[in-house]
Amino acid sequence: MEEVQQMVDEVIQAIISGVKEVINLGGTKVVIPGNFAIGCMPIYLSAFETNDPNMYDELQCLKGLNGFATYQNVRLQEAIKDLQTQYPIVAIVYADYFNALKGLLQNVASNGFAKGEVQKTCCGIGDNKYNFNMTRMCGNNGVPVCHDPSKLVSWDGVHMTQHAYRVMAKGLFKQIVQGISNQV
Ligand SMILES: *[C@@H]1O[C@H](CO)[C@@H](O)[C@H](O)[C@H]1NC(C)=O
Repeated sequence: MEEVQQMVDEVIQAIISGVKEVINLGGTKVVIPGNFAIGCMPIYLSAFETNDPNMYDELQCLKGLNGFATYQNVRLQEAIKDLQTQYPIVAIVYADYFNALKGLLQNVASNGFAKGEVQKTCCGIGDNKYNFNMTRMCGNNGVPVCHDPSKLVSWDGVHMTQHAYRVMAKGLFKQIVQGISNQV
């Protein structure tokens, strides 16, 4: 974890330099998304699966990876604050993808997802409880697709289903519009 944390500065710098480029091209409203709660994604849940219950949080996500995503998101938000002071007439808004995914996972039933299947991929092959196999991912020959993708959160272990993105977008859109209107 310490090793990957050292890479975060470089990642944040790349994001900020990309945003500056957009602003220099004339952008006046910029949305910068943070990272998802990656400890909840089947690809990482499979890669780092462990019998130690202390490694999982209340949503059965990997604490270490969610902690890492949070670490990067906090650094990103600090960098956005700095950037905002450098460009006071540009509206720069952080989009909280991390909590969008966590919020969705906390309310799976009310969002129409199948309970108990939350961490399974729709497109994948069922060697483990996440329906994910790194060497036989979605798109490989013979890898099946579930009957109803809208009941599941994860499409292929890395990307979410359209339904999951729709649920998250609803909340994020409100947040983004609110954030921009507070700044213009
Ligand atoms: C993934 O699929 C390969 C190829 O079918 C198989 O050999 C391997 O055992 C599977 N891995 C897991 C973790 O089940």
